[in-house]
Amino acid sequence: MEIVVSGIRPTGKLHLGNYFGALSNFRKMQEEYQCFFFIADYHSLTTHPTPVDLHGTVKQVLVEFLAAGIDPGKATIYIQSDLPETAELYLLLNMNAYLGELERVTTFKEKARKQPENINAGLLTYPCLMAADIIIHRALKVPVGKDQEQHLEMTRTFARRFNRMYQVDFFPEPQAFNFGDELIKIPGLDGSGKMGKSEGEGNAIYLSDSPEVIRKKVLRAVTDAGPERENQPKPEPIRNLFTLLSAVSSPETITFFEEQYNSCRIRYGDLKKQLAEDIIRYTDPIRDRIHELSADDAFLRKVAWMGRDKARTSAGQTIREVREIIGFREF
Ligand code: TRP
Repeated sequence: MEIVVSGIRPTGKLHLGNYFGALSNFRKMQEEYQCFFFIADYHSLTTHPTPVDLHGTVKQVLVEFLAAGIDPGKATIYIQSDLPETAELYLLLNMNAYLGELERVTTFKEKARKQPENINAGLLTYPCLMAADIIIHRALKVPVGKDQEQHLEMTRTFARRFNRMYQVDFFPEPQAFNFGDELIKIPGLDGSGKMGKSEGEGNAIYLSDSPEVIRKKVLRAVTDAGPERENQPKPEPIRNLFTLLSAVSSPETITFFEEQYNSCRIRYGDLKKQLAEDIIRYTDPIRDRIHELSADDAFLRKVAWMGRDKARTSAGQTIREVREIIGFREF
């Protein structure tokens, strides 16, 4: 079975955009492939070198992962720092990665601009660690968004370079993969762009938000003065609300508000009230799971240990062969 790897940095709560985007991909992929999904806690140190509560953040993402339907019985779920093999492969890849190519990576240049006081080597070699994450399991497919394409290109470069330097055909070249066409791209509530893209409080609805918070955020979503002509195309903020509706509401509700809009009778207040209630209903079971799981450390430990064991079996095999190929041998 084809191997899939993907990671998510534990830098914040997961939101509805993640749920319908990346996590929806993961849910589908776990049915069809041998999946390794991990929490990239090493990577988070490139931007948060002294996290206030690393363990707490990792726990939160693990809980929300599970609550969102990633199934430890189907996919291998693990914590990146539980796999010393990844760190070793990262070290080895660093020896064959060049300053020039690393400095040209867009995300590096962006981060360097954003945190000029902390342009650390981990930031520079981020693509080496990400490549190690992926090729440690000799994965073929990597579900990631557009912003990670360049990292994946680097992964292929490193894999190819390793094969060429040691004259082996060992690492396959992984490809980006997602069920993108079938996914709803969830917009934010502030009128433009994807959910989570802007930092503004109120732009994103988190999976852990309470019903009251959801109501408040949705009621404050950006709208306009209303349509002036019948069947007028929708400007972005209004289109966004309809996109959210299409994700969580019944076909009847969607048709109702479409007709109201097209006949210029729409009251955005009513639309928002309905949308808020439908989001709450949709996310109710997820919220329940989050509460249950947060209180069940024994279960979380079991998931993390089981994931670590399965991931280490796979990674251990790779690293043994890599050491052999490079020429590290026992006397
Ligand atoms: N860089 C990815 C992101 O920021 C997270 C990540 C780390 C990852 N290692 C990975 C994704 C390996 C896919 C595969 O979203």
